[in-house]
Amino acid sequence: MKKKIISIIGARPQFIKCAPLSGVLREQYKEILVHTGQHYDRNMSRLFFEELNIPYPDYNLGIGSGSHGEQTGKMLQAIEKVLLKEKGNLVLCYGDTNSTLAAALAGAKLNIPVAHVEAGLRSFDRSMPEESNRIIADHVSDFLFVPSKAGMRNLKKEGLEDRAYMVGDIMYDALLENIPIAMKRSDIMDRMALKKNEYYLATVHRASNTDDRQNLAKILQAFTELDKVVVFPAHPRTAGFIKKYSIQFDKKKVRIIPPAGYLDILKLVKYCSKVLTDSGGLQKEAFYLKRQVVVLREESEWTELVEHGVSRLAGTDRTRIIKYALTDFRSKWNFYPYGKGDTAERIMRVLKNNI
Ligand code: UD1
Repeated sequence: MKKKIISIIGARPQFIKCAPLSGVLREQYKEILVHTGQHYDRNMSRLFFEELNIPYPDYNLGIGSGSHGEQTGKMLQAIEKVLLKEKGNLVLCYGDTNSTLAAALAGAKLNIPVAHVEAGLRSFDRSMPEESNRIIADHVSDFLFVPSKAGMRNLKKEGLEDRAYMVGDIMYDALLENIPIAMKRSDIMDRMALKKNEYYLATVHRASNTDDRQNLAKILQAFTELDKVVVFPAHPRTAGFIKKYSIQFDKKKVRIIPPAGYLDILKLVKYCSKVLTDSGGLQKEAFYLKRQVVVLREESEWTELVEHGVSRLAGTDRTRIIKYALTDFRSKWNFYPYGKGDTAERIMRVLKNNI
């Protein structure tokens, strides 16, 4: 009988990360897919399942939004029930969201081995909810699948190197598989009447940027002062705060649209003149598609991109955002800090030897 792996996902980036691995996992194992329900809007969830051909979840826990404690606590309770019922051989979790934390803790408490994909990343900013989530998930996990050398160094400092495996970035696997499909199927450029290299692509969703009125206003102000239109697919929390704070900006210059699907976002990245973002995933997607990034944070977990000069840290500083958006960083693209897109296979090799 096939051994059983319980994969737990809940937020948009986790859907992307699970897609390439789920495919190969199912050749060897029985996978039970659990959706915590953290992201529930169609554009934030179902659309990704459809575009990425992710199997329908065996469980949707329907937890939804809430305060961090409430959301994580409810997930922990509900995941524990599933784990007790399913009696899996491994819990698999991804990234750094509240769903990741709940999954890792639930598995560890029941003494089920836990594997964490995208382990070892640190921003060294403990005020970020994601930072606590990753640290705790790493410390209670048995298999740490690490995307970068910086991640390996962080884990070594924390005494976790024995459980760490350098496997590269699973999002690269997903991108390589989906970019030809995006080029063919996405009609976002026509829909929005956009021309190549004639717009910036922006996303903002970090709590420190969205919940703080001043930071959000500064970012939008900087966008309106740029030399090209800014296409801004807005996360529901961001759209909510722009409304709540009644932030005024030139809507012709900053074109806010609903959250984009995976194929649309790949195409928007591919043809934009630069990406302006506080997202971790988008920083890498831009790099893979040879696009420079202005990072709307003061630090990045993807330090290699900053060191190599393909990303620049601008925080919420209006002057820096504008200056970096208008500057060509003269980037070199032929380096591979996050592997070559064979991460799913590399993870499988480790699992096959151990589970
Ligand atoms: C979460 C992750 C973050 C990740 C991001 C990807 C945590 C702590 N944060 O942030 O690391 O980068 O996902 O997008 O887990 N909302 C909706 N519809 C949805 C989902 C959310 O309207 O489908 C709104 C709700 O008002 C909610 C708010 O967005 O309160 C924030 O959602 P939440 O899941 O708490 O965190 P994210 O900001 O999405």
